[in-house]
Amino acid sequence: MGSKKCWHVIWVMFFLSTVPRFFAQSTNSSYDPDSLDDFFRDYAYNNVVRPRTGILYNISLPANFSGMELSFVRLRTRNFWLTGTNMSYFRIPSRILPVPFVKRFDLLYQNLGNWSHVYYHVPNHALITPVVGLMLYNASNSSRKGDWGLDLGVNRDPILVQFPSISLSEGKNVTLQCAQFGANGSVKLTNMTSQNTCLVRSNGHFSIVVPSSLPPRPSPNKRKEEIWKLWVLGFGLGIIGLILVALLGVLTYKFVKRKRIGQMERQSERNEALDTTWIGRSRMPSATGIRTQPTIENEYVP
Ligand SMILES: *[C@@H]1O[C@H](CO)[C@@H](O)[C@H](O)[C@H]1NC(C)=O
Ligand SMILES: *[C@@H]1O[C@H](CO)[C@@H](O)[C@H](O)[C@H]1NC(C)=O
Ligand SMILES: *[C@@H]1O[C@H](CO)[C@@H](O)[C@H](O)[C@H]1NC(C)=O
Ligand SMILES: *[C@@H]1O[C@H](CO)[C@@H](O)[C@H](O)[C@H]1NC(C)=O
Ligand SMILES: *[C@@H]1O[C@H](CO)[C@@H](O)[C@H](O)[C@H]1NC(C)=O
Ligand SMILES: *[C@@H]1O[C@H](CO)[C@@H](O)[C@H](O)[C@H]1NC(C)=O
Ligand SMILES: *[C@@H]1O[C@H](CO)[C@@H](O)[C@H](O)[C@H]1NC(C)=O
Ligand SMILES: *[C@@H]1O[C@H](CO)[C@@H](O)[C@H](O)[C@H]1NC(C)=O
Ligand SMILES: *[C@@H]1O[C@H](CO)[C@@H](O)[C@H](O)[C@H]1NC(C)=O
Ligand SMILES: *[C@@H]1O[C@H](CO)[C@@H](O)[C@H](O)[C@H]1NC(C)=O
Repeated sequence: MGSKKCWHVIWVMFFLSTVPRFFAQSTNSSYDPDSLDDFFRDYAYNNVVRPRTGILYNISLPANFSGMELSFVRLRTRNFWLTGTNMSYFRIPSRILPVPFVKRFDLLYQNLGNWSHVYYHVPNHALITPVVGLMLYNASNSSRKGDWGLDLGVNRDPILVQFPSISLSEGKNVTLQCAQFGANGSVKLTNMTSQNTCLVRSNGHFSIVVPSSLPPRPSPNKRKEEIWKLWVLGFGLGIIGLILVALLGVLTYKFVKRKRIGQMERQSERNEALDTTWIGRSRMPSATGIRTQPTIENEYVP
């Protein structure tokens, strides 16, 4: 009995100790676009040493990011203003300046490829192109501390984001829209004026979306969290169940034992003391002198 109890305690403690770990995992390892931007920025600056102005660097990413693309180019603002630049899907016309103004800046191009839907979602819409991003950083800021990101000041011609041809299932009458992703998961949708191309007036992250008839898909994070919550709930219920079963077992055991001992006592007393009688649970002296033959009432042998 003692060792059994000990095992019960050990099991309960084991389950209880696993629960916080599940909670911790449910809030960790999230696919946050902003931290991905920071990762790309830091990774680029750690891997492109002494970049030459105007040269495009394709940066190979760690294996677990395979499917994404990252490239880097350092530009002189004067030339950028005069000619603009092209970087993968982005066509940046002339007469655009970084804001705030710097003499040189770095352009970082991101293509999230098959990871796009993991990091970015548009409520009630589906992404039909990868999410591509264009970020600017102050090339002169050598300390690499704090936020040295820049914006693009577009006053005249917009920037073109030219996606490769989009394959849509034939005969489907769907309206394509450009999605621009902002801070805190906000998203701005705009009508498309030309095929496969979004006209945009800032740097940032872009994609093309179509309305989806499906109910909004929970993000992998949320789904993961839900699964963990179910796990935790399951374990909680399991523990409560275990405790109840253990309690019930102990109570039943005690009850049966007590009943059995009582029966035994009563049986033995009845058998040996013939001049007493039982009324309810109390033993009374028997007043009559009639001796009856002791009979064994059941098969029970003490
Ligand atoms: C995620 O977990 C690791 C250890 O497993 C920890 O170092 C890190 O701070 C956690 N991050 C967050 C955002 O909780
Ligand atoms: C970088 O990659 C793009 C496509 O991913 C390719 O067109 C370009 O030639 C590459 N440039 C260099 C310098 O590797
Ligand atoms: C790749 O692994 C690193 C840690 O080794 C992690 O921080 C990063 O989020 C992983 N990348 C992806 C896309 O999950
Ligand atoms: C960018 O590409 C377009 C054609 O797609 C071309 O007309 C333009 O001259 C290019 N700009 C630069 C700076 O290379
Ligand atoms: C994207 O594709 C690569 C292989 O090209 C794969 O390793 C990676 O797991 C994929 N990512 C997602 C989110 O499916
Ligand atoms: C860019 O960096 C240089 C050198 O650190 C600094 O003097 C300048 O103020 C920075 N500009 C911006 C807009 O952060
Ligand atoms: C780099 O930029 C940040 C903010 O943009 C600024 O606080 C920091 O002083 C800059 N570093 C240098 C060396 O100028
Ligand atoms: C597509 O739907 C719109 C209304 O949503 C309609 O005006 C248009 O004629 C349709 N086009 C085709 C090709 O069915
Ligand atoms: C994003 O949220 C933070 C606080 O959560 C807030 O300070 C910030 O202004 C928000 N940014 C936008 C663009 O809504
Ligand atoms: C976008 O297109 C829809 C119809 O397809 C129209 O009702 C709406 O006004 C348009 N929005 C803008 C900003 O042009």
